[in-house]
Amino acid sequence: MAIRNIRVDGDEILRKKCKPVKEMTPRLKELIADMFETMYDADGVGLAGPQVGILKRLCVIDTGEEGEKVALINPEIIKAEGEQEGGEGCLSIPEKLGIVKRPYYVTVKALDEDMNEVEIEAEGFFARAICHELDHLDGILYKDLAEGDLMSAEEFAEYMEEHGMVEEEGEE
Ligand code: NI
Repeated sequence: MAIRNIRVDGDEILRKKCKPVKEMTPRLKELIADMFETMYDADGVGLAGPQVGILKRLCVIDTGEEGEKVALINPEIIKAEGEQEGGEGCLSIPEKLGIVKRPYYVTVKALDEDMNEVEIEAEGFFARAICHELDHLDGILYKDLAEGDLMSAEEFAEYMEEHGMVEEEGEE
């Protein structure tokens, strides 16, 4: 396993649309393992293919909660309900945070690492992380959706306090 270089905002690869994965290969399995390692090393909770320079529809997420560690291949949101407004960060946009509206519940259909079809129901922060990572696969960054300007950690903490919002940990 190896830690991969995380691409940052301004790198045009982050704006490209990814291609579906057709078959699992040892190389792709290694990529997924590397993506988990890279994400943990950077203290993130999610990482998508383009962020490590790979234009394939795959991402990894681990919110730290039970049952919320997943590698999603060719993921698709098949149901989205409710709404949540909260803070979001991204490993490709270092040291910034923003407020983004997302659905509160999502159901995602994907393939797992063995190319078996899985369906995952997610809510709250896990649902937010899934939406964020899937956007990466279409070249969308959370700053495109953020309300107002991105903030520093300090500005963000003030904003959250002013608005009586609870901060959730993690950059995606
Ligand atoms: Ni991100």
